Amino acid sequence: MPKLSVAALLATTALGLGAPVLAATPATPAKNPDARAAATEARMTDDERFSLLSGIMPVAFPGMAAVTIPPGVKPSAGYVPGVPRLGVPALRETDASLGVSNVMQMRPGDVATALPSGLSLAASFNPDLAYRGGAMVGGEARAKGFNVLLAGGMNLTRDPRNGRNFEYLGEDPLLAGVLAGESIRGVQSQGVISTIKHFALNAQETLRMTVDARIDPAAHRESDLLAFEIGIERGQPGSVMCAYNQVNGAYACGNDPLLNGVLKGDWAYKGWVMSDWGAVHDVGYFAAGLDQQSGSQLDKARFFDGPLKAEVAAGRVSKARVSDAVRRVLRSIYAVGADWEPVDTAIDYAANGQVAREAATQGVVLLKNDGALPLAASAKSILVVGGYADAGVMSGGGSSQVSPVGGQATYIPSGGPGFMEVLGRQVIVPSSPLRALRKALPDAKVSFDSGYAPEAAVLAAAKADVVVVFATQWQSEGVDSGSLTLANGQDALIAAVAKANPNVVVVLETGNPVAMPWLGEVKAVVEAWYPGQEGGAAIADVLTGAVSPSGRLPMTFPKSLAQTPHPVLAGYGAPEGTALAVDYKEGAEVGYRWLAAKGETPLFAFGHGLSYTRFEHGAPALAASGKSVTAKFSVANVGARAGADVPQLYLVSAAGKPLKRLAGFSRVDLKPGETREVSVTVDPRLLANWRDDKWRIAGGAYRFALGRSAEDLGAPVEVVLKAAAW
Ligand code: BGC
Repeated sequence: MPKLSVAALLATTALGLGAPVLAATPATPAKNPDARAAATEARMTDDERFSLLSGIMPVAFPGMAAVTIPPGVKPSAGYVPGVPRLGVPALRETDASLGVSNVMQMRPGDVATALPSGLSLAASFNPDLAYRGGAMVGGEARAKGFNVLLAGGMNLTRDPRNGRNFEYLGEDPLLAGVLAGESIRGVQSQGVISTIKHFALNAQETLRMTVDARIDPAAHRESDLLAFEIGIERGQPGSVMCAYNQVNGAYACGNDPLLNGVLKGDWAYKGWVMSDWGAVHDVGYFAAGLDQQSGSQLDKARFFDGPLKAEVAAGRVSKARVSDAVRRVLRSIYAVGADWEPVDTAIDYAANGQVAREAATQGVVLLKNDGALPLAASAKSILVVGGYADAGVMSGGGSSQVSPVGGQATYIPSGGPGFMEVLGRQVIVPSSPLRALRKALPDAKVSFDSGYAPEAAVLAAAKADVVVVFATQWQSEGVDSGSLTLANGQDALIAAVAKANPNVVVVLETGNPVAMPWLGEVKAVVEAWYPGQEGGAAIADVLTGAVSPSGRLPMTFPKSLAQTPHPVLAGYGAPEGTALAVDYKEGAEVGYRWLAAKGETPLFAFGHGLSYTRFEHGAPALAASGKSVTAKFSVANVGARAGADVPQLYLVSAAGKPLKRLAGFSRVDLKPGETREVSVTVDPRLLANWRDDKWRIAGGAYRFALGRSAEDLGAPVEVVLKAAAW
């Protein structure tokens, strides 16, 4: 049974009140948001100031602390009243990055375009796609009347069992930071404020409300915090959402070193910090840097109302700090242009579906191919097995769950009493790979076997030219998986079918890496993640060869958990509320960096992904200028099909010290025979280490290798850098 915390359960639970479809008039970002925020704040009464510092979850739910929902407010994740007298809009907040979510149908019948998972987006290595996906979701949020999107989830993958990895952007700080930033920029282009979340080190769902994530602060700056730093610089999110967990002994939402020290101090972040839902345990978090308490009925008290007023009255919190918090909220409203009133507008779901389709297609990773793909034109009899492929594709659970256009195809109950029955549903999104394959291959006989009786699947497999087995792994917010093993005997099913037919293709729809004990017995493996509402069509495009696969793994697929820094998942199985500390001893050596440090080879490396065409890379020419390095090289499509390559530049030694860091990447679409010159400029922070409150580059030789994955690298080339600190 899934173990969601009560707060998470309440945060994702609501009764529907019904609502019209809304849309909006254009927004105009203010030219000088700071001055405007200061002027508005100066005109506010104290009550108006405090009204901006805490919000509610505007849903009625039996058992949840009673809350007054103002008339006309739509059920959603969050609501903070505005100040109409001064033209300050209410903050109408909804989840999240994968589409405008509608968890448990809190707005009955309200659908939205369901994008593929964050991991799928990360696999595209495509910042432009991230921007367009963000703009699409931001546009839908706006059309539905929401001016804050609780998007920008990007905690680095530190554990391949984390139930929320599917929402995030993989294990590398550069990749995650760039894509999060672009997605946020896209959202905010629609006059909708985006968050970036969950700040910081929310690396496991197990005991997320109590766990203390411990890390060396310098290593934190070089890993998870670097990802946030890049994401914030690129995306300028209006708000940062702090996490549930503790970081080095203090809750993330009351963490002075992180909020006042790093975020608002070193990074001079100008927006506001909002709490995660149910993450505030004390009024003292305000002084520690938290500006706004979200979904306050989920906490023990509405700390940022009466208790905070009492702190100010007693002189323990300054009025200047209250003004600062209020100005931060106003500044983001003005900077993004989120001060608009909702107006009814229709959404062009057909056009938005094309964005979902493109995203799903670019996210598919071809892991292995011994010639079975693309499906041969001569294959006249194709058997599709398992994975609910007749109905649709798997999606991930929790607050990011979108109610897709067309509604749920079906769902698989995962059990649990009461609300867990609904929250624990494995939602199948209606884009059937089986139907898409039949449409794409009208001359072939494409049959289906559910896989529930492996014996029947084996008999059918023996008669088919090719067998495509779909395997699913459901993941959800609030629940980690206990292992990398596919559930429900799917490994045995694949192995049995592979004994009966020599041409087996496995398509994975997973939210994490999985073990593949049958890998040597099958011809091809495709990782399609949770591919969203156009996923079936995208999978068919890749299987049939209408599109050459171009996704690359955004996280390492380890051979086993023994290769990871945390073979045992801390706290797994312990009751909610248990005190726990996890020591992230790997520091900044996350994912592929950890394996490189240990000299281990994974099952499939970070950055790996095959194509139906072939690419060649020219030797990179390096040039150093100050703290920066630029690499120039050619990429050629020397195969017979169009395709996209993702050349990756890795730093492999710094001032004589071996290491492995993704230093830059590019995604290049090439026709057959086409060659393109590519230039990649390396962020100086990737050449540096954080020591004594500064980024420091040690003087000496720096070696880079251009490659196709963290494990498949060309000859290293060298450049000499002068020492620098900033
Ligand atoms: C999640 C957040 C989400 C919030 C509001 C929390 O449980 O951790 O990511 O934005 O709920 O739904």
